[in-house]
Amino acid sequence: MKSIHDAVDHKLFSEEDIDEMTTRLGKQLTKDYAGKRVLVVGALKGAIFFMVDLLKKMDLPCDIDFIDVSSYGNGTESSGKITVTHDLEADVTGRDVLIVEDIVDTGLTLKFMKDEMIKRGAKSVKCCVLLNKTARRTTEVEVEYYGTHVGNEFVIGYGMDFAGLYRNLPYVGVIKPQVVEEFSKKHENDN
Ligand code: XMP
Ligand code: MG
Repeated sequence: MKSIHDAVDHKLFSEEDIDEMTTRLGKQLTKDYAGKRVLVVGALKGAIFFMVDLLKKMDLPCDIDFIDVSSYGNGTESSGKITVTHDLEADVTGRDVLIVEDIVDTGLTLKFMKDEMIKRGAKSVKCCVLLNKTARRTTEVEVEYYGTHVGNEFVIGYGMDFAGLYRNLPYVGVIKPQVVEEFSKKHENDN
């Protein structure tokens, strides 16, 4: 049987690395949001692993909710078009909202979500992302909290996928070029 680990070219961040990041961020958030009840909004589906680990390190009263905003098709390039495919249940009016996201790339998705929360009347909107891919930023957006920088490589694992797969790798790794090539070959006649 083929292992999902075979799709990984090399590991970028181990489970220990990630644990250090969530611990540091959780401590900082606990300090910065002291005395507040935070509405933590996870961006589906990529953020769920990070969100769970981060929440366990936040010593604060938190509500949790989810939004799915998709700008990506099946591949590795953004389509640029953003739509809300799953909306929040919570009313964000007057709330301190913390958006949790797996990775910021061009910044389009995060900017869209932040603007949306402000439009809906949130009292404050900040974000906490695991990986900050600054090299590809095209949209100016403040990333208040992040785990670490990452280069211009397509990463998978710990919530992040390629064509829906590999989210359940417990670490973050770089995908093997062959996996992307094989996928492209299989789907070249799709459009
Ligand atoms: P933008 O460009 O709007 O994109 O900042 C953010 C969304 O794109 C996804 N993304 C990735 N997903 N590996 C992934 O699995 C990557 O290297 C990667 N880069 C961007 C991510 O889901 C994020 O929500
Ligand atoms: Mg995402």
